[in-house]
Amino acid sequence: MKVLVIGAGGREHALASKINQSSLVEKVYAIPGNEAMINVAEIHNEIAESSHQEIIDFAINNNIDWVVIGPEQPLIDGLGDLLRQQAIKVFGPGQAAAQIEGSKLFAKQLMEKYDIPTADYKEVTNRSDALTYVKTCELPVVIKKDGLAAGKGVIIAKTRDEAIKGVETLYTEEQGQLVFESFLEGEEFSLMTFVNGDYAVPFDCIAQDHKRAYDNDEGPNTGGMGAYCPVPHISEEVLHQTNERIAQPIAQAMSKEGYHFFGLLYIGAILTKEGPKVIEFNARFGDPEAQVLLTRLESDLMQHIIDLEQRQPIHFKWKDEAVVGVMLASKGYPGSYDKGYKVSGFDPDSHYFVSGLKKEGDHFVNAGGRVILAIGEGSTVKDAQAAAYNNAEKIKSDNLFYRNDIGNKAIK
Ligand code: AMP
Ligand code: GLY
Repeated sequence: MKVLVIGAGGREHALASKINQSSLVEKVYAIPGNEAMINVAEIHNEIAESSHQEIIDFAINNNIDWVVIGPEQPLIDGLGDLLRQQAIKVFGPGQAAAQIEGSKLFAKQLMEKYDIPTADYKEVTNRSDALTYVKTCELPVVIKKDGLAAGKGVIIAKTRDEAIKGVETLYTEEQGQLVFESFLEGEEFSLMTFVNGDYAVPFDCIAQDHKRAYDNDEGPNTGGMGAYCPVPHISEEVLHQTNERIAQPIAQAMSKEGYHFFGLLYIGAILTKEGPKVIEFNARFGDPEAQVLLTRLESDLMQHIIDLEQRQPIHFKWKDEAVVGVMLASKGYPGSYDKGYKVSGFDPDSHYFVSGLKKEGDHFVNAGGRVILAIGEGSTVKDAQAAAYNNAEKIKSDNLFYRNDIGNKAIK
């Protein structure tokens, strides 16, 4: 079969390379892809991710059997629906179901209605109500802008001053939705779950991301600065509870409310004293969680997607090794950063997944915030961590930084 992967980041690099290993797959294409993927997919960067009609024409003209949509934006823009209208198979939800990620309020209301454990919340629709709310609310308070923010639209305010400043930062005009949440304490983890309507199959391997920019979870939130799997200190029992209390009920809730979800539901959870609770849902694989999970996955991803479509049991098989991924990001990220610095010293076909590089002549230069994920494998998280840092150090560039503590929570 022929598979088209939509997207240009490290997650899509990992998806394309994993799908390319499938014995079911004859050829992989990527739109727009990135230049580091050339040995795993045919790249079509002349087509933009947002050019839906061109993508549809491409899929028809090339007899594509499956389209796998990596990022959230095309899902929320309805690319999945348009492809399905042409009888093309798509892994990824349509616009209505993708709201589970696109609208914090949609997700919160659904969780409230179906008693799915999450932080209490309060919605406001204009700046003055927001300022009134933060005068008396409990602290710390979490402030989230509704809509997509690539993990960067969240402010955790510990003091009232910070809360007021947070509201002022997020309100660029008088009107607009903000969601306030009570602050949850605990360790976060990411559970990828295959969902087809009310049929939900969580991965039996959890990953852990590192959302803050700097060591010891300091600095601003980012899209993710590194991840690893498995997470040995988060027990099977917690995975079981997350499935029973979150994964199954949310799939049933969406289905009951008429939102048919087919694809990958990302459960961003936090292990509180009362058990796992939802921080956020995403309508696609995590980045960089996908890169470490798909490296560890031994079984055939494409077969799993077909099993999901047919509502068959999914039998994951994982390598024994742990996998750690360390993100190298442009200095300044998640704020502003300079582009165009040479990045070398790595082999894009092995142990690296590329998100923000482009070719200039015969070499790569940084072209995005998150640039490249260095992967390490080992018999323990500690060994995998050492291997990942060894691979990170091989990358030569003046303009990149990374965290030094990816995986530490599993090691201490
Ligand atoms: P989100 O974009 O909703 O995933 O939030 C980004 C990050 O902010 C999460 O990964 C958490 O580290 C933090 N965060 C979000 N909501 C909460 C909450 N209610 N309590 C504690 N931390 C939170
Ligand atoms: N790594 C978190 C995310 O993909 O949203």
